[in-house]
Amino acid sequence: MLKIISAHEAASYINDGDVLAFSGFTASGAPKVVTEALAERAKAEHEAGKPFKTGIFTGASTSEHLDGALALADAIDFRTPYQSNANMRACINSRRIHYFDMHLSHLAQELRYGFHKKINLAIIEAADVSENGEIVLTSGVGIIPTAALLAEKIIIELNRFTPKSVKGLHDIYVPLDPPYRREIPVYKPSDRCGNAVLKVDPNKIIGIVETNLPDGLSPYTPADAITETIGANVADFLATQLRENKIPSSFLPIQSGVGNIANAVLGSLGANKYIPPFEMYTEVIQDSVIGLVRTGNIKFASGCSLSLSDDMMTEVYSDLNSFRDKFVLRPQEISNNPEIVRRLGLITINTALEADIFGNINSTHVLGTKMMNGIGGSGDFARNAYISIFTCPSVAKGGKISAIVPMVSHLDHSEHSVKVIITEQGIADLRGKSPVQRAKTIIENCVHPDYKQLLWDYLKLGGTSHTPHTLNACFKMHSEFLNSGDMRQTDWAK
Ligand code: COA
Repeated sequence: MLKIISAHEAASYINDGDVLAFSGFTASGAPKVVTEALAERAKAEHEAGKPFKTGIFTGASTSEHLDGALALADAIDFRTPYQSNANMRACINSRRIHYFDMHLSHLAQELRYGFHKKINLAIIEAADVSENGEIVLTSGVGIIPTAALLAEKIIIELNRFTPKSVKGLHDIYVPLDPPYRREIPVYKPSDRCGNAVLKVDPNKIIGIVETNLPDGLSPYTPADAITETIGANVADFLATQLRENKIPSSFLPIQSGVGNIANAVLGSLGANKYIPPFEMYTEVIQDSVIGLVRTGNIKFASGCSLSLSDDMMTEVYSDLNSFRDKFVLRPQEISNNPEIVRRLGLITINTALEADIFGNINSTHVLGTKMMNGIGGSGDFARNAYISIFTCPSVAKGGKISAIVPMVSHLDHSEHSVKVIITEQGIADLRGKSPVQRAKTIIENCVHPDYKQLLWDYLKLGGTSHTPHTLNACFKMHSEFLNSGDMRQTDWAK
């Protein structure tokens, strides 16, 4: 018989040095109360002069209840695969937490392969759980199907905020490992290949903690002039590709990253009269998708989480029957699977922190050294896309930083995976171009006017080599920003 326990009792089963895995993806479906109790426990242990740190595996970023609380309590030894929390980021960048940034599709299989530490405890948010260990997950899946298989023990957070009627929204599938793996039978975004519920060994369940809490996501800030123009440029580019028969007339599924630019891009795709209703095969289903499903612009969305603001989530839960045949939530190993991305021919749209004039992308490290969030799913999608697009505003920090530089200060996506770069200035189509041709297209179309001449001059410095870099100058714009606070002051002659 499964027993109800308090969050504090649940936290009492966790010991210093334990490795924990959590359900969910973003704040969606991530545990909310055991983690807060664990943070209190860690603080009390530290006050008593005892060590208390845990290793943390999640699907992706989480919330203040998890990453925020545990980072503040100094309760984390290592963390992977992705985060976006300010407290966590501060701990990572002062090396109080060992963070390894991973492609999101890799983590579950690497856990099964035995590449990482053994999971002592999995904490799973559920909408429902049966005595025989059948769990209905909530708004996010992440790595939990694999983590629940591998963990020694399991604690359930039964969240009454999520109606039990979400059963059927999930498609839980764990592939076999090499040399026995077969193709994953997903041939269109709406195909299902797994189970509606997650099945775990009921003997591993220590107890159930009851909660009634929303995921706590806020709505995105409305698009501003820059993000709106980027969105419109992406939509125009895709409409042109369609007209030129470079995309099939029925269109192809879209993967779109998270955040304000992604939201604006989706809005523009919906508003563009030349783009037919489309499907999504993506990681995160965010607020803008719901609006576009309602207007019929999006026919179906496959993702790893419903990362909706609380109000939007309440709306969806109260009208689940209208959405039931419009969404499926999968483990990230499947939502981000390179085999499926390549097979379905995804048009992928992700955000860069910086790009270089030859088409390499940095999505993770501010000025080459400070971790922002992590690579997330961008590499899973970009490398295998039908067309991989990267977007960013052409400048940051009020114009003192150019997002386009001679050489990226950290590399996440190489020139080989990046097909199109789009800023509010315009579109650089890099397909079929040599390095110098790419540089000319990027400088001409995507660079902010304040930086164009500077980058034309850099290109000339390199002479006639295939990729004309000048090694003692390629990071000069970055070092100028560190010295004077403004990349525009860069002088190649100095
Ligand atoms: N150099 C230094 N700082 C820069 C910069 C650059 N070239 N470009 C942007 N920044 C700063 C911004 O000024 C901002 O700083 P602030 O928070 O102090 O204002 C910060 O970096 C991030 O900008 P923000 O507007 O918050 O960006 P965003 O919400 O559009 O996110 C990424 C951009 C790249 C951080 C985000 O998309 C990301 O983490 N991507 C990697 C993972 C991913 O692609 N996931 C989706 C796959 S499905």
